[in-house]
Amino acid sequence: MKSFERDIIMNILQWHHVCATDDIDEEDVIEFAHEGKLYAVYHTASGFYATAGTCTHETARLADGFVFGEIIECPMHMGRFDIPSGKAQGAPVCVNLATHPVKTEGGSVFIGLEVK
Ligand code: FES
Repeated sequence: MKSFERDIIMNILQWHHVCATDDIDEEDVIEFAHEGKLYAVYHTASGFYATAGTCTHETARLADGFVFGEIIECPMHMGRFDIPSGKAQGAPVCVNLATHPVKTEGGSVFIGLEVK
């Protein structure tokens, strides 16, 4: 990514406090709601991540799913997604999850959401 692209992205993001870093156990996920949208925020061995909160197959809430390493398994039909990239891992899911930047600062987890 070129530096001007990174600057543009940084300018349109607003960081929102999600929780304390120790509120999400490793290999777990919580739900974060903001302006009527749901997000899933994960803690894996490689760090914290965020995706859309609802499965792309139907309407299951991913925070009710199961985290295995860097995979989230949907609780409804067991579709799987790669957490860092949001990539669907095969049937029944074929549409990737949107991903969102996450940072930790001062013992808190923040999600970066685009300013509309
Ligand atoms: Fe998630 Fe069907 S709703 S796999």
